[in-house]
Amino acid sequence: MIKDPSLWPLGEKKIEWAKKFMPVLERISRDSREKKKFKGLKVGIVLHLEAKTAVLASYIQEAGADVYITSSNPETTQDDVAAALTRRVAGVYAWRGESIKEYFENIRRILDKKPDFIIDDGADCIVMAHQINVDSIKGATEETTTGVRRLKIMEEEGVLKFPVIAVNDAKTKYLFDNRYGTGQSSIDGILRATNILLAGKHVVVAGYGWVGRGIAMRLRGMGAKVIVTEVDPIKALEAHMDGFEVMPMREAAKIADMIITATGVNKVVTEEHFEVIKDGCFLANAGHFNVEIDVNWLEKNAIRKHEVRPNVTEYILPNGRRVYLLAKGRLVNLVAADGHPIEVMDLSFAGQFAALEYLVENYDKMENKVYPLPKELDEKIAWEKLKAEGIEIDRLKPEQIDYMKSWRI
Ligand code: NAD
Ligand code: ADE
Repeated sequence: MIKDPSLWPLGEKKIEWAKKFMPVLERISRDSREKKKFKGLKVGIVLHLEAKTAVLASYIQEAGADVYITSSNPETTQDDVAAALTRRVAGVYAWRGESIKEYFENIRRILDKKPDFIIDDGADCIVMAHQINVDSIKGATEETTTGVRRLKIMEEEGVLKFPVIAVNDAKTKYLFDNRYGTGQSSIDGILRATNILLAGKHVVVAGYGWVGRGIAMRLRGMGAKVIVTEVDPIKALEAHMDGFEVMPMREAAKIADMIITATGVNKVVTEEHFEVIKDGCFLANAGHFNVEIDVNWLEKNAIRKHEVRPNVTEYILPNGRRVYLLAKGRLVNLVAADGHPIEVMDLSFAGQFAALEYLVENYDKMENKVYPLPKELDEKIAWEKLKAEGIEIDRLKPEQIDYMKSWRI
């Protein structure tokens, strides 16, 4: 179920283009593909459905699995890629602009296939599998910080029914995807949507975690005057010593030309900020769910609403000031651009493939817990990436290994 099957030729080109820049995933998946290690298995994928995701899905299908895929967000499917993917995998159920009801119906379609394994982004599929008691699932992987947060609570409450590998928490994932990936792609989305200049603008970044620091770093590189808001004293201090201004959102909103949320927490920009916000402020979100900017408040209280450009909605506030909401408050890098750069998703999806292969081989020895990606696999991905980049590094000499194991004077 997709929007328009005739769009497949452009989607196919996008997938082949992405594949050229994904040598690590190619290498990590090669053995499984040659040996058809996933033969007889059904794999449900719930990831933002764009070209890099299609490369991952194609490789899993090539490794012998039947792949059923939908998107992890109602607004991030690229319809041409979805059309091309119908020719490569067992089932595609996704289109750009799904209603919330359709979004959950599509996840339900994946679960109705009785998958053996799930690859999730945000944990909506895993949560639904628990709510409707899908008993076919042997294990799952999770792509993002917000999904891992939800799954760890499920584990703590003792309700998790199968092992999950937190791919997000691999070093080859969050240090690159969350930081450099979101840093570049969020700015890409903002600029494609608005065509404005960043240099000289006051841009507020809410959250100085991996995503927030990536965005702040890249904004500074483009000449923006970056202000950070935080709730964690250590992160706030890091931002301060990295040279950013740090202040509460209520103060920052008064001078912000743009606010970008990257917290994974709800109600970060809300009524108290709209009361004082600078006229003409742009609002964008890079966090997983559309809960960080209080869009419901804007919808209920704005005097007028107007689509000024694709992905830009102008709201006139009760105090007469205007704000420009980008991408309806959803992930700006995936709605207004193509998501992360390909080379970054090469690392993340190599982690996804490695995690799936590990689960297929080990799920029956694992408990119903959230596991990290094994360190050897994480490092294997880093070595493959170094090789692909033509970078050599030193190795510890035997004397150095001995020295590092000793403590005597
Ligand atoms: P993180 O936990 O490393 O960082 C979040 C930071 O936000 C923390 O430092 C926390 O103290 C801070 N924070 C929490 N509440 C706050 C508030 N009210 N005001 C200011 N700061 C606050 O998480 P992360 O890996 O940076 O991920 C952040 C979000 O981005 C998550 O929802 C994650 O799933 C999502 N994500 C999106 C993309 C993307 O492509 N757009 C990529 C990776 C992760
Ligand atoms: N492309 C596909 N999945 C993505 C993700 N989780 N973040 C950014 N870009 C992506």
